[in-house]
Amino acid sequence: MKKMLAVLLCMVMVFSLAGCSGGSTSTSGKGKVDVGIVLPTKDEPRWLQDKEKFESVIKDTNYSVEVLFSQGSSANEKTNVETLIAKGIKVLIICAHDGAAAAASVEAAKAAGVTVIAYDRLITGTDAVDYYVTFDSVAVGEAMGKYLADNATGQGNPLYLYAGAATDNNAFLFFQGAWNILQPKIADGTFVIKNSAEATAVQGSKELTRDQLAAIIGQVTTNWDFNEAKSKAEAHLTAVSAADKGKCYVLAPNDGTARSIADVFAADSDVSEYFITGQDSEKASVQYVIDGKQSMTVFKDTRTLASDAMGMAITVMEGKEPQTDSTYNNEKVDVKAKQTPIIVVTKENVKEALIDSGYYKESDFTGLK
Ligand code: BGC
Repeated sequence: MKKMLAVLLCMVMVFSLAGCSGGSTSTSGKGKVDVGIVLPTKDEPRWLQDKEKFESVIKDTNYSVEVLFSQGSSANEKTNVETLIAKGIKVLIICAHDGAAAAASVEAAKAAGVTVIAYDRLITGTDAVDYYVTFDSVAVGEAMGKYLADNATGQGNPLYLYAGAATDNNAFLFFQGAWNILQPKIADGTFVIKNSAEATAVQGSKELTRDQLAAIIGQVTTNWDFNEAKSKAEAHLTAVSAADKGKCYVLAPNDGTARSIADVFAADSDVSEYFITGQDSEKASVQYVIDGKQSMTVFKDTRTLASDAMGMAITVMEGKEPQTDSTYNNEKVDVKAKQTPIIVVTKENVKEALIDSGYYKESDFTGLK
């Protein structure tokens, strides 16, 4: 009987999650929900990876869970959180579309007695975030900077900088991380910034203030948008002369934008070679890495992040204090955090990192040796 109930429960949960994938609002779960998960958009493969991983973690729990997508809108996000509060959630796991705007949503959750776990992106300017489960985002940026620096010799190498969305606190962490490594290499003449007067203006300083970072990000943001990334890269390459091209070094903030920017650099006949970064190990970028069209990607194992977040939620529901290993200041309080390390993936280790680890199937790719 117990077994049958468990099977039934699993079926209900799988059905409920399938319903959630249909849109920014769920068709499922009229009844009670224990854990509400809100993700920023299903239009980027990165967040579909997270959803899939949550689904496999959830299968092994006895708690009811609902996943909703906000489709790049803070208003949808607020509605999603309110919907979940109304369903009686005890824990909210939320990856904010806009880290500052999400403060109001999590304050509403907190007021309803819900424990709030910020997922991947920190929510800023509020004391209503209980925990933060994240990858080490400064390390992500440092890995990107290191890749570019390790592949540069001589002086005067053209450097093109791109950033994520200014509404995402991670964009600051990624850029600061990359800057930690790139700045000394700009200062010693290895690199010359070609597309950001704001970055050039502060190239003597390793530590940037939030305002300085905001000014640079404001200038070279992709807004995490492939099209914006593409048109910015086109404008930048049009604005410079052939002498500013040749062998180019490109800091691209994630895989989606890296593919767009890489295509632009590849299409410019004055670019003889380019090195370009990325992160997320999206399938399309893994294929780009195999094909030599994207130089590297940072693998952020969403299996670990999703299971850490669910593990934390379960610990909270059991009335215990979850383990954390660091803190992140969100401009209001220090939020207790659990960090997951990252792995750099290049053509050389792609098979070991992503196939042998069981993250992807070999048959998902062509030309893999
Ligand atoms: C995430 C990245 C992702 C980006 C765009 C960031 O907050 O950490 O993995 O590529 O958002 O969605």
